[in-house]
Amino acid sequence: MNNATSAACKVVVLIGGSGSNLQALIDAMPNSHYEIVGVISHNPTAFGLERAKKAHIQTAIVDHTAFAERSHFEVALHEAIQNFKPDLVLLAGFMRILSDAFVTQYTSHLLNIHPSLLPKFKGLHTHQRALEQGETHHGASVHFVSAELDGGPVIAQTIIEVGEDASAEALQQRVLKTEHWLYPEIVNWFSNGRLKLSQNVVLLDNQPIPETGLQFIFTETEGIKQ
Ligand code: GRF
Repeated sequence: MNNATSAACKVVVLIGGSGSNLQALIDAMPNSHYEIVGVISHNPTAFGLERAKKAHIQTAIVDHTAFAERSHFEVALHEAIQNFKPDLVLLAGFMRILSDAFVTQYTSHLLNIHPSLLPKFKGLHTHQRALEQGETHHGASVHFVSAELDGGPVIAQTIIEVGEDASAEALQQRVLKTEHWLYPEIVNWFSNGRLKLSQNVVLLDNQPIPETGLQFIFTETEGIKQ
């Protein structure tokens, strides 16, 4: 796979649910250097499939429940992805854990967005857990995918203040809003050839970025601050 700087970067998005991040990526496409060439869902009823169809993007379903073994599911998923010949593959609410063997095929061309300030709160129920731990700040991370669940080098994070009377649902909505800014931004960096993974180090414009990833602070009133 190449992330050529002249032709638009061909992107496949893997989803499993609402697809609001997919929608943000679709909406940002006209002002970006990528083209979403396919959307694949492991869930046949994912609302994200409707969003893709409305945007005239080809869709495919690889229903994980139809496979007795994960390895068979992953073979079918790999085939479905390869049909689109992408330069970059994005996980956006794709709720299946991928094996080491699968992920290795996509090293440095597979990104994920996760609703926490990684390495904190890997896995599910991140907003509730952040509240329970009394976190003052919370957010989202985009990272290159490694075989470890929600692992792999972080590229960038959005950070918000939790606030005193936050509920998990309200927090989720506020974080999601920042995700919708973050993911298209990063995909565009990749598409323009600015973002690379080299020997497990994230490079932006050929410079290594801090291990925490680049951090963007959001405030309620001003939006993005830095
Ligand atoms: C987002 O919170 C994303 O960070 C996580 O799953 C959720 C997907 O939401 N990986 P949506 O389907 O994009 O609305």
